[in-house]
Amino acid sequence: MSKSLENEHLMHENKVLPPANWAANHPSKPSLASFEEYEELYRHSINDPEAFFGEQARKELSWSRDFDLVKYPKTGFNASWFLNGQLNACYNCVDRHAFANPDKPAIIYEADEPNEGSIITYSELLAKVSQLAQVLVSLGVRKGDTVAVYLPMIPEAVITILAITRIGAIHSVVFAGFSSGALRDRINNADSKIVITADESKRGGKIIETKKIVDEALKEAPQVKNVIVVKRTGNRHVPFNANGRDLWYHDEIVKFKTYFPPTPVNSEDPLFLLYTSGSTGKPKGIQHCTAGYLLGALLTTKYTFDVNPNDILFTAGDIGWITGHTYVIYGPLLNGATTVVFEGTPAYPNFSRYWKIVEQHRVTQFYVAPTALRLLKKAGDKFIEGHDLSSLRSLGSVGEPIAPEIWEWYNEKIGQGRCTIQDTYWQTETGSIVITPLAGITPTKPGSASLPFFGIDVAILDPTTGKELQGNNVEGVLAIKQAWPSVTRSIWGDFGRFNETYFKPYPGYFFTGDGGARDKDGFYWVLGRVDDVVNVSGHRLSTAEIEAAIIENPLVAENAVVGYSHDLTGQAIASFVALKNKNLSGTQVEDAKKQIILGVRKEIGPFAAPKVIFIVDDLPKTRSGKIMRRILRKILAGEEDQLGDTSTLSNPPIVQHLIDAVKSSK
Ligand code: PRX
Repeated sequence: MSKSLENEHLMHENKVLPPANWAANHPSKPSLASFEEYEELYRHSINDPEAFFGEQARKELSWSRDFDLVKYPKTGFNASWFLNGQLNACYNCVDRHAFANPDKPAIIYEADEPNEGSIITYSELLAKVSQLAQVLVSLGVRKGDTVAVYLPMIPEAVITILAITRIGAIHSVVFAGFSSGALRDRINNADSKIVITADESKRGGKIIETKKIVDEALKEAPQVKNVIVVKRTGNRHVPFNANGRDLWYHDEIVKFKTYFPPTPVNSEDPLFLLYTSGSTGKPKGIQHCTAGYLLGALLTTKYTFDVNPNDILFTAGDIGWITGHTYVIYGPLLNGATTVVFEGTPAYPNFSRYWKIVEQHRVTQFYVAPTALRLLKKAGDKFIEGHDLSSLRSLGSVGEPIAPEIWEWYNEKIGQGRCTIQDTYWQTETGSIVITPLAGITPTKPGSASLPFFGIDVAILDPTTGKELQGNNVEGVLAIKQAWPSVTRSIWGDFGRFNETYFKPYPGYFFTGDGGARDKDGFYWVLGRVDDVVNVSGHRLSTAEIEAAIIENPLVAENAVVGYSHDLTGQAIASFVALKNKNLSGTQVEDAKKQIILGVRKEIGPFAAPKVIFIVDDLPKTRSGKIMRRILRKILAGEEDQLGDTSTLSNPPIVQHLIDAVKSSK
C-alpha cells in the first residue's frame, strides 16, 4: 500500500516534544496534565460520547433548563444533542462572567491606528448587548429571525453578534471584504430584514466605503426594513437614508436601559448562519445550532490553546469567517477570558504590528493563518527584534497547510522555546477545531495537524471505493465517522443539498472535502481540497463561483478557473478565458482582462480576483462538454508531462495551445 502513497515523505517525520519547562512556567494550571490524560479522555469521548459530552455540557455551560437526553438518535449524523435543554448563548458568553467579574476586560479593541483602541469590561459588554438587543426587539426582530451583519473588526461587531443571540435571533455575518453583489445574495438567501453595518471601515490605513456597498446591495433586497449604522469614521458624507430605513447605532442604543433579560432557546435552535463556498457556484449558508456549537467552541478553546480565565487570546482572523466566530468571539468569552479584536493588518503601520500588540497587552495565545506568517517571515526578523513576547504560551495556525519551514520559523522566532504550536485543522462546517495538537502536551510534527480532538473519530477513506483504510501509513480522503456536538446541522433552507454534499459521497461518514494521510505514528496530515475549492490567503473560494462571475462579462464565451500554488498566498487563482471575439487587438485584450478582474471584484470581492488570466482559443473538454480542469492545473504546475489520461478530450490539439499560452505569459 505505502508504495502508492503520493506523500510518502510525510510518513517519516519524527515527533517534537513540547518544551520541557512548558508546564513549569505555566502561570496557573494547564487545562490537561499530560498526554496520557488526553489519550484517556479521547478514548472515553469516542467510546461513550454521550457520557463525555453530557458531563462537559453540564459542567461548562449554564442552562436555564437542563437537557433530558444527550443525543438522539444514538447513531448517524442526523443527530440532535442535549434534547429539551434550554440556554442562551449571550448569557453564557457575557452575563455569567459579568456577574462574577464585572471589571474584567472582555474585549481589548486594537484599532487600525495604534493607540486608538479601547477596553470593554464584561459589565460594559453586558450593558451594551442589552441595549442593542432592545433596539432589535423594537424593530420587530424576534426569536428565529435572521439578522445580517456587515461590519469591520470593531467591538460593535462582537456586541452586535451577541445582542442578536440574546433575543434568540440568528446572526448571518457577511465578511466585510465581500462586494455588494455577494452581500445582496447572502442577505436574500437568509431573508434578513435588518442589516447592521458601519459608515466606513478602516484597514491598513485605508478607508473602505462600507455603507455605500450596503446601499448598493439593498437595491435588490426589498425585504430589508432597517439598516443600523455604526459610526466608525464619522465621515459626514456617508449616504444615509433618513426616511426611517437607516438608523444610527449610537442614537438608538441610548434609548434603552442597560439590562435586558436573555431569551432562552432550545439546544438545537439555530445560533447562526455563515456562508461558505463549495463545489457549485451558489454559496451555502452553513447553519450551526446553539448548544452543540457553544460546547465545541468552549472545549476546543480551553484544551487546544489551554485558555484559562486569566488569559488574553489574540485571534488575528476576521469575524466574517468561522475562525472569527469561534475563536475571536465565542471560545474566549465562553471561557471568561479576554479577547483581542484587531481591526488592522499585520503590515500596518509596519510588520511589527502583531508583536507590538502581543507585547502591549501581554497576549497569552496567538492564533493566525499561515498566509500572514509567510508575509512576516519574508519581511524579515528585524520586525520581531526588541519585542517582549514572553507572555505567549501557545501559537496557533489555521485555515491552510503550514509549510514546515514556516512552522519552524514561527516556533523559533515567535515561540522562542517557550510555546507550543497548534496547527489546527477544521472548517466552517465543523464549527470548531477537529484535529490539533493540544498546547503543552501533544508532541508535534511541523506540517501535521497531529491528533483528533475529543469526540472526533477520523477516518481515511479510499477515494474511489469509499472503503475505510485501516492502520497507519495510509493516504486518501479525510472523513469523520461519528457525529459530534458542533457539526453543522444544515445548509440554510436546503437540507437536501446538505445531505448530498456531506453525507452522500461516502455513506456513513461526514466528508470534509480534503485529502488526508495518517502516518506511521497515527498523526494526521491534511493534503488540501479534493474538490473545486481553492484556498487563497486562507480564504475559501469556489472556482465555480468565480467562473460564474466571469461569464457575466459579455466579452467572454467560456472560462475555467483553477488554483495554483503561490509563495505568499498559498494558492492563487488562474483563469482561462475564451473570448467571443478572437480577433481583438493587444490593447483590447488587455482591456478585456481588466474588465474581467473588475467583474469578479464587483460580484464577489477583491480577494477573489484572478491573479493571472490566460486568453485562449478554447478549453480542454471531454466529448460530453465537461471542462477538464485537471489538465489546466497540471499545465500551470509545469507538469505537462503528467497530464494523465487525455483520451477523452474532444479537442486534443488544445493541450499544446494551452501549454504555449501559459509559457508565453511567463
Ligand atoms: O482545506 C482545509 C483548509 O481550510 C478548509 C476550510 O476552510 P474554511 O471553512 O474557510 O475554514 C477555515 C478556518 C477553519 C479545509 O477544508 N484548512 C483548514 N485548516 C487547515 C486547513 N488545511 C490544512 N491545515 C489546516 N490546519
